[in-house]
Amino acid sequence: MVIDIDPQGNASTALGVPHHAEIDSIYDVLINDFALADVVAQCPDIDNLYCAPATIHLAGAEIELVSLVAREQRLRRAIDEYVRFRENNGQERLDFIFIDCPPSLGLLTVNAFCAANEVMIPIQCEYYALEGLSQLLKNIGMIQKHLNSDLVMSTILLTMYDGRTNLAAHVAADVREHFPEQVLQAMIPRSVRISEAPSYQQTVMTYDPSSTGALSYLEAAAELAERSVP
Ligand SMILES: Nc1ncnc2c1ncn2[C@@H]1O[C@H](COP(=O)(O)OP(=O)(O)OP(=O)(O)O)[C@@H](O)[C@H]1O
Ligand SMILES: [Mg+2]
Repeated sequence: MVIDIDPQGNASTALGVPHHAEIDSIYDVLINDFALADVVAQCPDIDNLYCAPATIHLAGAEIELVSLVAREQRLRRAIDEYVRFRENNGQERLDFIFIDCPPSLGLLTVNAFCAANEVMIPIQCEYYALEGLSQLLKNIGMIQKHLNSDLVMSTILLTMYDGRTNLAAHVAADVREHFPEQVLQAMIPRSVRISEAPSYQQTVMTYDPSSTGALSYLEAAAELAERSVP
């Protein structure tokens, strides 16, 4: 399952799940105490994939959350309740829950950090991408200390890799040297097919499954699945 908590709603778009302003969404879960089960939708193109969509209302949620009780824990509670709901209704256990975060480190992202066990960071193989990383790691450290001691930054995925440039190779080598355990072997190349897919309400996995972009994501997914075997 994918939980989209980015007000831009790019994950919802790519998964083909409606997320215009009138749709019940993760906003209603966080702010209006809806159950996650009430907003989760089946993705039309991919069996066994569900999405809790984000709507534009989420843009105001950062501020609305401030005055609410247990403001950091709302997503965690909703997920715990949803997991119990599935169990009680004889539905299959979810293999993975991915939470797509906004680019900022506000209360929405804090909710994700409190609900998650692991953080996966996609890093574009460009210099500026590295600049944000140390601040992000500091924030994760703070969450570990005060709110969720289980949280680990377990995975880094190198994206937008352009093998023709020295810069990309340098950034990739640099990140691998600093985080040898976390960086996946698979790297996602810069690819036109990946950037085209969202305009067809698809991910590259259904838009062009045999493209190098899709195959790289498949490799990354296989590594993730293998890592999670106890
Ligand atoms: N490997 C790639 N090759 C080409 N284009 C890509 C690639 N990865 C992502 N893009 C394009 O870049 C844009 C942003 O990608 P994505 O939504 O993954 O970034 P993001 O870091 O989540 O952005 P935001 O911080 O705004 O949420 C998308 O339009 C996508 O099509
Ligand atoms: Mg995003």
